[in-house]
Amino acid sequence: MSEAIERLVADVVVVGTGVAGMTAALGAAPLAVHLVTKTDLESGSSLWAQGGVAVALGHEDSPELHAADTVAAGAGLVDPEVADIVTRDGVLAIRRLIEIGAEFDRGVRGELAFGREAAHSRRRILHAGGDATGAELVRTLALRVRAAAGLTIFDRSFAEQLVVEQGRIAGVLVRHPDGRRRLHVAPRVVLATGGLGQLYRYTTNPREATGDGLLLAAAAGARLVDVEFVQFHPTALAVARDPLPLLTEALRGEGSVLVDEGGERFVAAEHPDGELAPRDVVARSIWRHLADGHRAFLDTRQAIGERFPERFPQVFAACREAGIDPRREPLPVVPAAHFMMGGVAVDDSGGASLPGLWACGEVSSTGAHGANRLASNSLLEALVFGARVAAELRSTPAPAVSADASLPLPPAADDWRGGGELHREVRDLAWASLGLVRDAYGLSGALARLATLWRELPAGASETRSLVAAALLVGAAARHREESRGAHFRSDFPAPREAWRFRQFLTASVDADGVVPHFETPAAPLADGAPPPAASPEVPR
Ligand code: FUM
Repeated sequence: MSEAIERLVADVVVVGTGVAGMTAALGAAPLAVHLVTKTDLESGSSLWAQGGVAVALGHEDSPELHAADTVAAGAGLVDPEVADIVTRDGVLAIRRLIEIGAEFDRGVRGELAFGREAAHSRRRILHAGGDATGAELVRTLALRVRAAAGLTIFDRSFAEQLVVEQGRIAGVLVRHPDGRRRLHVAPRVVLATGGLGQLYRYTTNPREATGDGLLLAAAAGARLVDVEFVQFHPTALAVARDPLPLLTEALRGEGSVLVDEGGERFVAAEHPDGELAPRDVVARSIWRHLADGHRAFLDTRQAIGERFPERFPQVFAACREAGIDPRREPLPVVPAAHFMMGGVAVDDSGGASLPGLWACGEVSSTGAHGANRLASNSLLEALVFGARVAAELRSTPAPAVSADASLPLPPAADDWRGGGELHREVRDLAWASLGLVRDAYGLSGALARLATLWRELPAGASETRSLVAAALLVGAAARHREESRGAHFRSDFPAPREAWRFRQFLTASVDADGVVPHFETPAAPLADGAPPPAASPEVPR
C-alpha cells in the first residue's frame, strides 16, 4: 500500500489515559512520552468509578488483611504475591496521590472516611465527592499530565496496530483526528486501553470500553490470560440507557437491600452474607430471579433515605434523570458487564511477553483479581502497576528501533468508531451467550456466528473489529474452561474443579480468516479425575 506515512519519534508510547495510563506516563518522565487516546484525557472507565479505592489505611486494617480478602474473593486464582504487592504498594500510592492534591472524603475530625463493600473484612473503601472517586483521581492526574514536560498528548487518535520488528516492539500505527495515519516510532509501548464492557448489551462501562488493547496485543503475538473472567456488577439501574447507570455497591455497604416485586429479600435467603455476598454470587442470584420472571429492586429508603442526594450525588442525579426518586421508591436493577479480570498477561513489573510491551490497568492481567475481583481493588491496582511500569521504563535501557515506514500497512477503515448493525449484533450475542450463565451449546453457537461476523467486517481497524475479536477470545476461553469459578459460570459444569484451578494463558492467530486462540497446556495436577483440558480446542471458522 502506498500511503505516505509520517514518523513521530518517542521514547515511550502510552496508549490509553485512565488512571493506569496517566500514572505510567507521568512516572516515565523525563523520557519523551506520547500519550495516545481515542477520546480525551478525561475519559474512560476510571472517570466513572463510583465505589472508590480500597486501601489498608484504617486503624484496624493492614495490607496483609487486605491481601487475604483479595485472595479469598478471587476463587482460587489470585496470585498471592501480586495481592501482596497491590495492597502494600497501594498504601504508598494513595499517600502519594493525597500529597499531589487528591481529596478523599473525610469524617468530622478530618480523618479519612472508610466505607464498606462486599467481601471486605474491614471498612477500607475511600471515596471522593461521595460517589465520584474516579473523577477525582482522573482530575488530579490530568492536571499533572497537562503540565508535564516531555509528555505529548495525542487525543482523538486511534491506535490501529502495534509495530513489531525482529520480535520486539518498534512503535504504534495511529490514526489521528485529521484522518491521517502516523507511525509513532518507539522501543517501548504501554497498553492502558481499559476493558471490554461494551461487548455486552448491558454494561456500566463507557462507550469507549471496546477491548481494543486485547486485539492490539493478540495480533502482535503477546500472551493473554484469563479472558473468560468477566465481572458483572449486580446492580445497574434498569432503565433505557446505554451504558446503564451504576448503583454503587456502597449503597449495599450502607445497608440497602435487594428485594423482588413482593418485597422478598431473595439474595439474603440464598447466602449468609446476603447483599454483601461476593459480587458474582449476588449478580447470578439477581439474574436467576429475573430469568424466573421476577423483578429485582434495590431498596435504599431505610438505610439511606433522605441522605441520598448528599451521600451519592452522581447516583441520585442518574436516578432523577430516569424519573425515579430513591428516597421514595426502590430502584429497579439488572446485572451488567463491569470489569475484565483477564487481559494481557504481565509480570510483576507490568511487562508483557513481547519485548518492549507493557500493560497496566484493566487491559492487563496481573493475577491480582483471579476469577472474581474484590470490589474497589481496580483503581488501586491501576495506580500501583502504572507506577511499577514507569519505574521499569526509567530503569531499562531501550534498544534503537527503526519502524520502517515503507512496510506494508494494513487497510484503513472508513471510520474506526463503533456502531451499526454488526456492532449491535455482537453485543446482543455476547449478552445472550457469553454472559453470566454460559454453556457449551450456547458458546459454540455464538462462536460460529462470531467467526462469520469477523470475516464480514469492513476492512481496517475499528472498535467493532475489537469487539468481535474480544467476543471470539472470551467465548473460546469460556468454552474451554469446563467448570464454574468466580465470575465464569457454566450451567453444564456448575461446580469448580480442582483440575481447572489454573490461570488459562493463550496466544492467538489473528488474520483475515479468524481469531484463533491457542491455549497453553496447563501444568496443574489433575486431582478430581477429570480429563485434562485440551491444549487448543477447535474453534469454528
Ligand atoms: O459498586 C461500585 O461502586 C463498584 C466498585 C468497583 O467495581 O470496584
